[in-house]
Amino acid sequence: MGRLSGRIALVTGAASGIGAATAQCFAGEGAVVAGLDIQQPDAARWKRVEELAPAASFHSASVSSETEVKAAVAEIAERHAGFDILVNAAGVAGGGPLESIEEGEWDRIVNINLKGTFLMCKHAVAPILSRGGGAIVNIASVEGLVASENSSPYAASKGGVVQLNRSLAVDLTHRGIRVNSVCPGLIETPMVEAVTKATEGPLVEMREQFVNNHLMRRCGQPEEIANAILFLASDEASFVTGATLVVDGGWTAGRRGNADLFDL
Ligand SMILES: NC(=O)c1ccc[n+]([C@@H]2O[C@H](COP(=O)([O-])OP(=O)(O)OC[C@H]3O[C@@H](n4cnc5c(N)ncnc54)[C@H](O)[C@@H]3O)[C@@H](O)[C@H]2O)c1
Repeated sequence: MGRLSGRIALVTGAASGIGAATAQCFAGEGAVVAGLDIQQPDAARWKRVEELAPAASFHSASVSSETEVKAAVAEIAERHAGFDILVNAAGVAGGGPLESIEEGEWDRIVNINLKGTFLMCKHAVAPILSRGGGAIVNIASVEGLVASENSSPYAASKGGVVQLNRSLAVDLTHRGIRVNSVCPGLIETPMVEAVTKATEGPLVEMREQFVNNHLMRRCGQPEEIANAILFLASDEASFVTGATLVVDGGWTAGRRGNADLFDL
């Protein structure tokens, strides 16, 4: 018996990175996974999901369009007779010096990361309640808790997800839906590979800085985030709602810096 046996899970951003790792992790734990993304998944990876969960399905939609979200959620709910779990992992990065950020770029980031999370949660309530309740896990970021330089639209969108998550927990917990968020540190996914795989130029220095932000002095792997999402989605988290689970190798705990002063 897997930890999600008999559960139906809708995972957004399932074509890549954290969403793809979550889809595979959930399928391995016995869930039927419905993936949703604007891009197609890596064929070999999705085949693995289908091997683990033969009833898995994949749906194309943008989380920032209410029309598309409504249609895709209805299609998934009809195909699987509702669902128990929603994971909002679709997202985009972006930013830069404040004066250089165009209005359209701000809107793109906030619309996908924050409005997309709102729209998915809004339309998931009825299909989750149709199965007697369930769990929502929203992927925010350490950037929603502490800001990095030149990251205003992303940090604001993720700070919004952290508070939206609490607000939805207040609205939905008494109706039988637990709502929690995960704040990852820097995770090696396609979203940040320009930084994590840089071999020359200023991005190498940026990566060093980011790596040093983690007390563990390394980036995380998507599977390490998927495991935290699995916990929050499963019955093991039956008394957890409204929580913000930081999975960041120590990024937000604090900084080392004065070891040289002591003869240890
Ligand atoms: N990688 C990191 O370091 C990191 C750190 C903290 C938080 N996060 C968050 O984790 C989540 C997953 O990121 P990732 O690193 O796996 O990135 P990724 O780029 O590998 O995956 C994101 C997925 O979201 C999809 N997507 C983008 N816009 C969409 C839209 N409008 N509708 C539907 N799908 C859309 C993309 O197509 C992609 O498949 C994001 O919310 C991201 O902000 C990532």
